Amino acid sequence: MEISLEKMKIEDLELIDLKNFDDFWTESILKDEILSDSSYYIVARFQNEIIGFAGLKFLLDEAHITNIATRIDKRKNGVGSKLLESLINRAKEEASVLITLEVNTENLPAINLYKKYGFEILGVRKKYYDNKFDAYIMTKYFN
Ligand SMILES: CC(C)(COP(=O)(O)OP(=O)(O)OC[C@H]1O[C@@H](n2cnc3c(N)ncnc32)[C@H](O)[C@@H]1OP(=O)(O)O)[C@@H](O)C(=O)NCCC(=O)NCCS
Repeated sequence: MEISLEKMKIEDLELIDLKNFDDFWTESILKDEILSDSSYYIVARFQNEIIGFAGLKFLLDEAHITNIATRIDKRKNGVGSKLLESLINRAKEEASVLITLEVNTENLPAINLYKKYGFEILGVRKKYYDNKFDAYIMTKYFN
């Protein structure tokens, strides 16, 4: 698949139907994030459609992955990998010492994706999602 990665723009939000990505984020939260100076958001485009997006937030010398999602019908095609590679590269450019995230302990596709890129499980946040589901803290250090 010929995928291009681009910085996310406010207009892109109209092209993203969140329910096709598992709608755990709202448009208004995404909008705030795109406009924030301390964030980096990208979209993956295929034949003029947005088939993935991902974001980073910089906090001091750390980079926090806030979101990474591939459209449901385009999964397992390497889109998530491309998005994650871009986030990792951007975090290195910002001289972050690490890149980290929280992920539902039952979300095997995401956990496997992060492991593939060298993230390690460094802790658990109990009942992190909806006061019900646990989250792993997964981190990759840059040395
Ligand atoms: C996690 C997600 C982004 C992966 O996107 P993707 O485009 O399918 O990822 P890729 O095709 O690049 O796959 C990369 C790796 O992820 C893992 N993976 C992806 N889908 C998987 C699945 N269904 N089961 C197990 N591992 C899986 C594999 O390790 C895979 O590497 P491989 O192809 O060498 O086996 C996608 O499943 C998604 O959007 N999920 C919903 C949103 C979400 O949960 N995001 C994470 C929030 S922390």
